[in-house]
Parts: sequence; C-alpha cells; structure tokens
Amino acid sequence: MSDTLLPADAQHDLQSRGYSRRQFGRISTLLGMGAAAAPLLTRHAFAARHTTAEFVGHPDMVRIGSNECWTGPFPEAAQAGVAAIPLGNRYEPDTYRLTLLKNAALVENISMDSISPWAGSSDPLCRSIVTFASPGRGVVTANPTYECAWGVAKWLNVKLTRVPLDAKNGYKTDVRAMLAADPNAGVYYICSPNNPTGTVTPVEDIEWLVANKPAGSVVIVDEAYLHFAGTPSAIPLVKQGKDVIVLRTFSKMFGMAGLRLGLCFARPDIQAKMMRYDGSYLSFMLPITSVAIGSHSLTMADAITQRRAEMVAARDMTCDHLKKRGIAFIPSQANMIVVDWKKPAAGVKAAFAQQKVEIGRNWDIWPNRSRITIGSTQNMQAFCTALDRVLA
Ligand SMILES: Cc1ncc(COP(=O)(O)O)c(C=O)c1O
Repeated sequence: MSDTLLPADAQHDLQSRGYSRRQFGRISTLLGMGAAAAPLLTRHAFAARHTTAEFVGHPDMVRIGSNECWTGPFPEAAQAGVAAIPLGNRYEPDTYRLTLLKNAALVENISMDSISPWAGSSDPLCRSIVTFASPGRGVVTANPTYECAWGVAKWLNVKLTRVPLDAKNGYKTDVRAMLAADPNAGVYYICSPNNPTGTVTPVEDIEWLVANKPAGSVVIVDEAYLHFAGTPSAIPLVKQGKDVIVLRTFSKMFGMAGLRLGLCFARPDIQAKMMRYDGSYLSFMLPITSVAIGSHSLTMADAITQRRAEMVAARDMTCDHLKKRGIAFIPSQANMIVVDWKKPAAGVKAAFAQQKVEIGRNWDIWPNRSRITIGSTQNMQAFCTALDRVLA
C-alpha cells in the first residue's frame, strides 16, 4: 500500500513544484487538521507562554483578548439554527449548503461556483498556501499581521518574507514593498482590515499588486474583519477572473467563532486546485446548524450595520479615554486597536489580568504594544476603569 493518501495528481502537482515526497506527510497533516491547524500554528508561540486556563479565558474575566465578537449570532439567525436541530439525523436534510451559496452569491454579486464554504476560514487559508507556495516560491506578508500564514510557511519549510506595515500611510499593508521584497513569491497575503492594527489596505493597492505580481502566484485577501469596517471588498477582483482568493469568516461580525463557518471566494479553477489534495469532503460535511445560522446572517444587512455602529461607539469611547490618559494607539477601522504602552506589553497584560480584564497579545516586532479587542460598551467601560487602576 502507498505511504500517502494524497491522490496521484496531487502528488504529481506537489513534486512538479519542488516538494519532496518526505513533505507529503506534513502537507497531509496540515490539511487533515483543517481548522485546527491554524490555531495551533498561530498560537504555538504564545500558548507556550500561558497556562491552559489563561489560554481558554476565565468566564469571570472581561474577555477582549481574542478578537471575538462580544455577543453571539443575531437572534433571528440563531433561530434558523435551532430549527435545523431536529433534522440533524440527515447529512443534508434539505438544501442547506446550496442556500448558503445562493445567499452569499446574492449578497456579494458573484456566481455560486466561485464560492466554497468551510468550517471557518483557517482551512482555506492553510490550503491556499499549500496550493500556491512551494520550495521555489515563498510567502510574503505584512508585519505585524495575522500569523497563520507564517506558521504554514514555516511548517512547509518555504521562504517567508515579512514587510513592515506602512507607518507613513496609516499602517496599511505596503504592497509595493511586498512585491519588491520577493518578486517571485507564490503567495502574497494581505489581511484587510489587518489583524492586529484594524487598518484597511485600499482595494486600489490590492489591484496594483494583482496587476504587477509574477505569473502563477496568487493574492490572498483575508477579509475576516471587513464587516466591522464596512469598506469595499476585493471580491469584485475574483469576479473579474483575477488570481485572487478572498477569505471571509463568520467568527467575527456574525458571532460564530465556536460554531465554525467560513467562505472562500475564488475562480472555479482555483477552488478545484485547492481541493485536489483531499477532495471536497471538508467543504461539504459542515454542521447544518452553523450553515443555517450563517446563511440567514448574511442577509441581515440592517443588523450588520447596527452591530458595526455599536462597535464603533464602544471604540470611540475607548479611544477618547486613551487620549485623555495620553496613551498612544493606532487609529483603527475594525474591532481592535493596538495600544503603545512604551514599556513591555507582557507586564501590562499581566496587570490587566489582575483587574480581571484579559487584553490581547503583542507581536514580536512591537514588544511594547498590545492588541485590544473592542467588546461591548460594558466591556470597554471595564477596560477604561482597569486602565486607570493599572496606570495608578
Ligand atoms: C485575520 C484572520 N483570519 C482568519 C482567522 C481564522 O478565523 P476562523 O478560522 O475562525 O474563521 C482569524 C482568527 O482570528 C483572523 O484574525
């Protein structure tokens, strides 16, 4: 029996791009773990510094450390999930997956065959890197940004290039510097709004990168936080047939981090390439409860606007307080802000924990800065009170 379950065409593809047979096992592990891989790859560094209890979060703490939504799914959408439960004896009792695709296609004005659903956006993020990066063609990202792509690049042992955010231009992703840093990469990853800064990279910059990038590469645009900014999406580039993959998750605005649902927008031939390592099973076998809630959430434009306004009000209140206390921060368009303590962030995080407020982590490039997730108004009032105590 063969020592790999990878289909023959996938083996051929990987070898033709410079992967050795010895790396097949690592690729299978990565894809087999699906959504579990990203958190492990992303968090291994900081999880090691925390006890398990801290990692999970204390129920009695104000939890503004993990960029989750402060509340669950829209109640009306949650009802659609409740209605699905009695039908859970069937793999596909009705047209749940199709309805999700139809709703997403309608809302984003794109054909259904350019959309695939997943249990979160981590799986398609990992597999898009496997599909387009290789020993000969690396991965380029901003720094700081969401580190999953870094973990995958390291795991696959492909070249990783990190380019500082453009501090002179509102900390957006510096697409020109990214291309200059590795003109022959396989993957250019842009997170917009960026995690941790909440800063938006204009679609025109993404268009420039798409027009100038090397042949055979792809631009991944991770729009996990786009609903919080309400700014234009890069999905029209997919519709135009460009080499672009847009990722969306239901873990943020839709309050479904624990329910696991995400969408990948890309040309059908790109989707097929991404599926070739393990077939489309993982995109089809999704919990119908999550699919029902997600399908319904997508159509709730007024609820989305209202939740965004709620977040913006809480963020403005927090920023006003930081200004009053003379604490520097990066202006953000999403549900997070990076605060500059001018001293090691790890100590400040511990001081907040003493006040029962769990703030976010720091990135290596910025040891004195922490990411603060914007929670409910009440959460942010608690943060401001704790801040005053920590400063005192
Ligand atoms: C930018 C970004 N992309 C992707 C993810 C992965 O989210 P999920 O797998 O829950 O969809 C996260 C999670 O925090 C994120 O911040």
